Amino acid sequence: MGAPDEAGIREAMRGVVDPELGADVVELGMYQGAEVSPDGQVTVRLALTTAACPLRSQLQRDVEARVGTLPGVSGVTVSTGEMSAGQRRELMDRARAAAQDKAPATTIPARTRVLAVSSGKGGVGKSSITVNLAVALASRGLRVGLLDADIAGFSIPRMLGIQGRIEAARTSGGGSGERLSLVPVTRPVGAGHLEVLSMGFLSGEDEAIMWRGLMLNRAVQHFVEDASWGDLDYLLVDMPPGTGDIQMGLARMLPRAEMLIVTTPALAAQKVAARAADMARRGHLRVAGVIENMSGFTCEHGCHHELFGSGGGQRLADEVGVALLGRIPIEPEVSSGGDTGTPAALGSSPAARELARLAEAVLSVAPVVEMRDCSARLLDALGAGAAGRRFE
Ligand SMILES: Nc1ncnc2c1ncn2[C@@H]1O[C@H](COP(=O)(O)OP(=O)(O)OP(=O)(O)O)[C@@H](O)[C@H]1O
Ligand SMILES: [Mg+2]
Repeated sequence: MGAPDEAGIREAMRGVVDPELGADVVELGMYQGAEVSPDGQVTVRLALTTAACPLRSQLQRDVEARVGTLPGVSGVTVSTGEMSAGQRRELMDRARAAAQDKAPATTIPARTRVLAVSSGKGGVGKSSITVNLAVALASRGLRVGLLDADIAGFSIPRMLGIQGRIEAARTSGGGSGERLSLVPVTRPVGAGHLEVLSMGFLSGEDEAIMWRGLMLNRAVQHFVEDASWGDLDYLLVDMPPGTGDIQMGLARMLPRAEMLIVTTPALAAQKVAARAADMARRGHLRVAGVIENMSGFTCEHGCHHELFGSGGGQRLADEVGVALLGRIPIEPEVSSGGDTGTPAALGSSPAARELARLAEAVLSVAPVVEMRDCSARLLDALGAGAAGRRFE
């Protein structure tokens, strides 16, 4: 029996899946070709993300098993090499694309930039930053959605000063008949507007929500899959603290989400935030940038105090290899604005100016996807009916 050709080997290699990246090695570009000797000896070239890849021996075994059973193969050698930084970047792009193909349909328009505001640690100001960034972007005339993924610890309605109830609307799902969807609570801000979904609009603020992890995930899933979001420029997601179920669930449901990581200047917070960045990598999410919050306090006499140390944001940004997008000072207006529902970004304090700069930085690292001539718009138009996305 003759030895197999390269095409046959490539086909067999499609059965070798990188379990971490969730795609096969051909799709990921890790398979670099094979040589076949006349006596059926096959040498497969495999590029690994790092030479010390923990999956190395598993991948080798899988290659031997898949290629070794092809007719005419007398033996398999796997020759491994290490990817260059450029190859690794391409691999992550492909992994992201593969994850997107497998992601469930969502009701979020394809052109919408999804930015998840995360931190490893609680209380660093994720919700405050999310609300203020949303307001700063909306006041520039943009359509901004705000998804409060902190199901048990929601705080967005109070911080925005919005009371309301989520209404259910009948949507005509193409092919799948009628279904009910959640209508976000919408408010104008300057020339733009906000669309908000939060458990706070479903349950009273004082009602304890004692849902288990699975249920929490289901709630976020409803907000992502069964809501009638408008044609948003941005959807900001206020994440709960930590790197648990909801985070991983969101990465699965919304693989196109990009992360904004919030940290305080303190070393401990920076270390914990690094875990959030690590989780982003494991979920193949892009980290769009780092935001340092509570970056010093300037008292009424003009004395500056670095209450929580300094430099944590920049160190984390350098570690992750992204830009530090903003440094928001500690300011009573940020805190009182959160309590009274008047976000500091609407004012003119130093924090408001920093928040405006943050909005500009976000617009530059994660720009609005323009609608004109955009394939995302086309995709939307095609996909919307099929997935039952538009509501009437
Ligand atoms: N720059 C700031 N200046 C003054 N107070 C701030 C600032 N940022 C946040 N705070 C206050 O710190 C507290 C925690 O902020 P926030 O709720 O936004 O954090 P979080 O990271 O969302 O918390 P959690 O992990 O519990 O969701 C709030 O009382 C908030 O008003
Ligand atoms: Mg919060």
